[in-house]
Amino acid sequence: MITFPHRHLLGIKGLTEQDITLLLDRADEAVKISRQREKKTSTLRGLTQINLFFEASTRTQSSFELAGKRLGADVMNMSVGNSSVKKGETLIDTAMTLNAMHPDVLVVRHSSAGAAALLAQKVSCSVVNAGDGQHEHPTQALLDALTIRRARGTLARIIVAICGDVLHSRVARSNILLLNQMGARVRVVAPATLLPAGIEQMGVEVYHSMAEGLKDADVVMMLRLQRERMAGSFVPSVREYFHYYGLDAEKLKAAKEDALVMHPGPMNRGVEIASDIADGPQSVIEQQVEMGVAVRMAVMETLLLSQGLSQNQGPRP
Ligand code: NCD
Repeated sequence: MITFPHRHLLGIKGLTEQDITLLLDRADEAVKISRQREKKTSTLRGLTQINLFFEASTRTQSSFELAGKRLGADVMNMSVGNSSVKKGETLIDTAMTLNAMHPDVLVVRHSSAGAAALLAQKVSCSVVNAGDGQHEHPTQALLDALTIRRARGTLARIIVAICGDVLHSRVARSNILLLNQMGARVRVVAPATLLPAGIEQMGVEVYHSMAEGLKDADVVMMLRLQRERMAGSFVPSVREYFHYYGLDAEKLKAAKEDALVMHPGPMNRGVEIASDIADGPQSVIEQQVEMGVAVRMAVMETLLLSQGLSQNQGPRP
């Protein structure tokens, strides 16, 4: 029996260093399973996982789906368009309908911050936040951490530069919380218009120049320019943005020679990252995708096992 004192995963906030380490250790095991020919286990056999996505997503939804299937759960995907009116009502109504079907875990993505936490109060199963507005995306931060830890051996004291559209990014928020909790040194590099007010209070060093922000960094984490979330004009032009903030070979030279290049996807090639860098030898973008499935297996297994809900309570063979 494993002890994980949380029924839901709503964010990185509230997780201790031990909680995070436990999830990453389990994810390391899940990587091994995903690399075998036989990838299906019976850990969550008989349990039902519903993916409730109010926002379009290919990679996150398929990653959660594969994770559930590899654990032996029955997985159902519900993609619901965001209705512009009565959003709160629609969200809760849909969740209550699904709840009546006795799912064991609900994976939720929604464009409003706090949507997953709201659902967690209403339904009787575990809830995993797969991204809520500009708030959190905890499994992304965990998969990023796993990718870094496997490459560097530790998260303590490494320098991570998170670059670009921090303002609209739940990925950045969750990563800042996690990396700080694990003792890494976090920098954000962005124009002032793409940084939230008071970001320094999250325990990051702020830079407006890539040359300074990337200096001696172990990890360069690029963020997508989230144009769909931009109402006004945050950047003068995409060309200018790339000139100052797009990661290319020249800017990458400032970081450590073997610095990892990361991106949560989907990428805007030629906007925040040059194509040759995205596909280059320092890029671990594909590893991030692989780690995504493993981390989601670890999260769902841990949440459900710690409630004594699985078939096999013992350690996996
Ligand atoms: C991220 C998200 O949705 O927040 N993408 C993802 O999870 N695949 C980052 C992004 O959209 O830029």
